[in-house]
Amino acid sequence: MSVSKESASQKLSNKFIVIEGLEGAGKSTAISYIGEWLALMNMPAENIVYTREPGGTELAEKMRDIVKMEVQGETLEDKAELLLLYAARVQLVEHKIKPALANDCIVVGDRHNYSSLAYQGGGRGIDLQLIEDIKQLALGDFKADLTLYLDVEPELGLSRARGRGELDRIERQAIDFFQRTRSVFLSLVEDDKNAFTIDAGQTPELVKKAIFIQLDKWLASLT
Ligand SMILES: Nc1ncnc2c1ncn2[C@@H]1O[C@H](COP(=O)(O)OP(=O)(O)O)[C@@H](O)[C@H]1O
Ligand SMILES: [Mg+2]
Repeated sequence: MSVSKESASQKLSNKFIVIEGLEGAGKSTAISYIGEWLALMNMPAENIVYTREPGGTELAEKMRDIVKMEVQGETLEDKAELLLLYAARVQLVEHKIKPALANDCIVVGDRHNYSSLAYQGGGRGIDLQLIEDIKQLALGDFKADLTLYLDVEPELGLSRARGRGELDRIERQAIDFFQRTRSVFLSLVEDDKNAFTIDAGQTPELVKKAIFIQLDKWLASLT
């Protein structure tokens, strides 16, 4: 690697990396790999901020609870779900992500905007342009500097997630919901030069290697 580790941590400060993928794709696992890579780059631990969506601030976590909640006799409408997810995202971006970036931290996000396009657009079938408009209202041009999308067959992801414990309201959707979600993720990544697909169906060792390769390439591209 040609960049020195001192300049590496400088280049990485005020960057926002996002991991996206279906349930059980290995996002949480990938985030621990990113932590290892950042340590190799001499990024001080106190300059690394981890977020998860929905949630990550006190109010955003309450909104997450509502999204996950099951209430007798009242379903959460798809559009209400979408708006709650964006409301939570506004809180997270304004109260946690932007201040951390302004403070020379790197932010590593477990999910971000593409999850709403993929799940609410692909999965639930809400018009993608409508979601883009809400995104613009909520976040303006704010976006991730790098997105790594962990691609798995929904069946494989769900079987991994099942092994982890009970499935929640969203995880119990039919398989074709996740097929539609996956296909939107794939097309979003294809259209975004700062987003890359990682084959997450591989062994953990190979997934880690693929993530390190993408991170090394990305770092080399930063000026
Ligand atoms: N590449 C992999 N191969 C097999 N199992 C994996 C792999 N990556 C993660 N796992 C396991 O699958 C489960 C889900 O992984 P996790 O990282 O929690 O996924 P996510 O955060 O995307 O839902 C965990 O038990 C994890 O140990
Ligand atoms: Mg996870």
